[in-house]
Amino acid sequence: MTVVAIDGPAGAGKSTIAKLLADKLSYRYVDTGAIYRAVALVALLAGVDLDDAAAVGTIAAGCDIRTSAGTVTLDGDDVTTRIRAADVTRAVSRVAAHPSVREALIGIQRGEAARGDVVMEGRDIGSVVVPDAEVKVFLTASVEERARRRWEQDGRHGEIADIEAAIVERDARDSQRSSAPLVIPEGAVEVDTTGRTISEVVDEIAVLVEPR
Ligand code: DC
Repeated sequence: MTVVAIDGPAGAGKSTIAKLLADKLSYRYVDTGAIYRAVALVALLAGVDLDDAAAVGTIAAGCDIRTSAGTVTLDGDDVTTRIRAADVTRAVSRVAAHPSVREALIGIQRGEAARGDVVMEGRDIGSVVVPDAEVKVFLTASVEERARRRWEQDGRHGEIADIEAAIVERDARDSQRSSAPLVIPEGAVEVDTTGRTISEVVDEIAVLVEPR
């Protein structure tokens, strides 16, 4: 029953690498950022003040979010595409900064970890959610490369410089929040993906898992 925890900043390649690694190992894949995004979506639709910790925490505690095989449902509705929209991306790190929200969502994440044989990606999996994960990886890449990847992913819309600025802002918010800031978890292997192919990185991490 192995848990592989992959943490790192936005655009480091976590989703791509975690999905391929899960396929290679025949493990499940859990994108914990999607869970925070689903809460941000409900908060936006409800029109609550995103900085109101109590209101957003109540929303997080009250919604039924499920992730399976790359699909995210919110109270039974498929929101997989909707949670990637720009309004949710802009809102999510404000929502994720509230301890009330993080506490409400930790149970869902630990439940997934307890089922074992899973690759979980996020910002605090190896540090807070599953600190005893068998394999911990911290993925990074240069800001320039992360911005360029996002631009490619989003159909080459907009200016790379604007994407870079948004990434820098989100990194700062994720790393400076008082509750579960983005840190390199104790015992994590740091993997810099700048200039490397996806399959090289997947293979490097798979080697860490396989001897178990
Ligand atoms: O990986 P992503 O861009 O989908 O993550 C969305 C946001 O959720 C990101 O700004 C940080 C937050 N997040 C978090 O705080 N903890 C996690 N385990 C996963 C994501």
